[in-house]
Amino acid sequence: MIVNVHQFAQWKRENKAIAVLTAWDYLSAQMVDAAGADIVLVGDSMAMPVMGHETTLPLTLDEMIHHAKMVRRGVPKTLVVVDLPFFSYQVSREAAMNAAGRILKETGAQAVKMEGGYQAIVETITATVEAGIPVMGHVGLTPQSVYQFGSFRKQGKSAEESDRIFNEALALERAGVFSIVLEHIPNDLASKISSALTVPTIGIGAGPDCDGQVLVTSDLLGLSDWQPPFAKPYVNLREQGISAAKAFCEDVRQRSKSPKNAQ
Ligand code: KIV
Repeated sequence: MIVNVHQFAQWKRENKAIAVLTAWDYLSAQMVDAAGADIVLVGDSMAMPVMGHETTLPLTLDEMIHHAKMVRRGVPKTLVVVDLPFFSYQVSREAAMNAAGRILKETGAQAVKMEGGYQAIVETITATVEAGIPVMGHVGLTPQSVYQFGSFRKQGKSAEESDRIFNEALALERAGVFSIVLEHIPNDLASKISSALTVPTIGIGAGPDCDGQVLVTSDLLGLSDWQPPFAKPYVNLREQGISAAKAFCEDVRQRSKSPKNAQ
């Protein structure tokens, strides 16, 4: 599929609610694609529930490319967006464009996401978009800056922070992003940003007034033992998985005549 980034502004004009889910491998990708997600995001959040890191920072560009290739194989048609990992793009514009170019060339994904809205990132995004690579923005709680923030706390609560995030979102739109993730900010700020922009906002922990919503699929499925306060599990696959594994172990230990793997 050829990405038509203008489609997103069109969706915004039509008031279409955009559903975004993350994926990290072939199976998770097939699942969210079959469910009809509008965008599949290979989010660097996978560093935590999937890879067991405490933050998203350790994930490398090579690891991201490895996972994005699996996702692309499971998602033949839907738009796949891939996060640029920490320090694959912050150092220089050239580094960012090389990383973004590698992602498109090596994985078959059609767009990248970069965190932040400060001036250097805005300039990097402008250059990347001019080079023909669609970019999604991300402001508010940007987890790659967790050590700067001190925690994964809500951003934009003070007037000063709120103004900064609002202006960052405007600057990202001018830089040419086709949509912007708003993470863990007050609902009224997300609502104000969504009204001011012509590109869609995709919220997570940012209230109901965003143009779309994104959920991390391991949170959707209740796979990990911890979820952020704003994530809603729709099923508890962790508990179901543990029960299934226990039943199997029990079958084996009882030398059951018909454990499912020995039928
Ligand atoms: O990495 C990720 O999954 C994300 C979403 C939370 C938007 O950036």
